[in-house]
Amino acid sequence: VDPRIERLQRQAAADRESIGLAGGLPADEQFPRTPLARAFLRAISPPGVSGLQYGWPEGRERLRTWIAERLRARGARVSADEVIITSGAQQAIAIATQVLVRPGEALAVDAATYPAALALFRARGAEPVARPAAHAACHYVMPSIGNPEGHPLAPAERTAILASRQPIIEDDAYADLRFDGAAPRPLLAVARGRVWHVGTFSKTLCPGLRVGWLVPPRKRFGRALRLKHALDLEANHLAQSILEEYLATADFDARLARLRTFYRRRAARLASALGRHLPAWRFAFPAGGFSIWVTPDEDGDDIEFLKTAIVHRVNFDPGRQFRPDRAPHPLMLRLCFSATPGPKLEEGVRRLAAAWDDYRRRRDLNATAEHTDLTP
Ligand SMILES: Cc1ncc(COP(=O)(O)O)c(C=O)c1O
Repeated sequence: VDPRIERLQRQAAADRESIGLAGGLPADEQFPRTPLARAFLRAISPPGVSGLQYGWPEGRERLRTWIAERLRARGARVSADEVIITSGAQQAIAIATQVLVRPGEALAVDAATYPAALALFRARGAEPVARPAAHAACHYVMPSIGNPEGHPLAPAERTAILASRQPIIEDDAYADLRFDGAAPRPLLAVARGRVWHVGTFSKTLCPGLRVGWLVPPRKRFGRALRLKHALDLEANHLAQSILEEYLATADFDARLARLRTFYRRRAARLASALGRHLPAWRFAFPAGGFSIWVTPDEDGDDIEFLKTAIVHRVNFDPGRQFRPDRAPHPLMLRLCFSATPGPKLEEGVRRLAAAWDDYRRRRDLNATAEHTDLTP
C-alpha cells in the first residue's frame, strides 16, 4: 500500500467527525453480538474445551463440512476433507500464490482489483499484470462480485480465463452478497483440477474472527496443507470453535437475505446522493459487495484530491491502489457504502462535492500561477 495513502487514511480515521467512504468494512450493527457471545461461551465451556486446544492444520471438521456443503449446493464437487480453514481469505490467497507463482513471474489480474492481493503478489516478488496476460503463471479473479466494481466477471472474460488453461485463484469473498441473492456457480464447479477456491466469513459475519478457507486442486492439497502448517500451525482454533457453535444454531441463509437487503439499500442511498450532489460523475450501480467505483467528470490526482477531501472531513479509496501498474490516471475512486448509515452517506457525498469544487479551484489556480510570467 502506498505509504502516502496509508498516512492520509489513518489521519481521516483518527478524526471522529470525518465520514468514512473508504476501507470496505462490513457494517458494525450487523455483527450478531449476542449469538456470538453465546457461541463463545459454549466453545470454551467443558466438556467443549477443545476450543482452547491445538487442532490439526486443516481446521475443525464440522466447519469444513459446513463449507463443503455450501459449495456443493452451488454445483462444486467438494468434500470436507478437501477444505483447509485459513486465517482469512488473505492467507488462502497467500498459500495459493506461494505454490503457483515464483518470484519474477507474472500473475494475471483484472484492470482494477483488490489492493491487498496486489500487495501480497508484489511481496512474493511476482508482477501483477492486467488481463489478457498469456505469459502469466496464473489468474487471480473474483468471478461472483469484483472489488472494487461490485459486478460479476463478464461472460466473455470468464470464457477466456477458462480457455487459457492457466491455474486460477478464485476469490469468492463477496459471492453471498450479490443483491439478487443468486450466488453463481463458482469456477471451482467447472475447472476443479486447476482452481484454488478462496472464501471467507469476513464479509458475511465479521472480519475480527479472521476465518476463511481454501479449496486447492486435489493434487495440490498436500502441498497446500504443509504450507499452511508451516505458516501458523492452524487457523485460530477458538475462532473456528465459535463459528461451529454459532452456525449450529443460526439461520445463516436468513442472515444473508437480511444483509443483501441492508447493503442494497445503502448502495441505493449512496447512488442517489451522488446523483444529487455530483450528477456529472459516472458509475454503474453495483450488483453486490460494499462499494461503488466512480469516475469523476474531470481527470485529476487522486492523492491530492484525497488530501482536500480529508480537510472537508470525508475520505475515499484512491483508484490507483486498485491498478496492477499503480497508474494514477484516469481518476477513479472507490466509495464504500457498507459501513456508513444513510444520513451520513448523504452528508459524506455533500462534503465530497464541496471538496471536488475546492480541489479543482486550487488546481486551476496553481496551473494559472505556473503559466503566468512573473518577471517584471
Ligand atoms: C476481494 C477480497 N478478498 C479478500 C479479502 C480479505 O478477506 P479476509 O478478511 O478474509 O482476509 C477482502 C477484504 O476486503 C476482499 O475484499
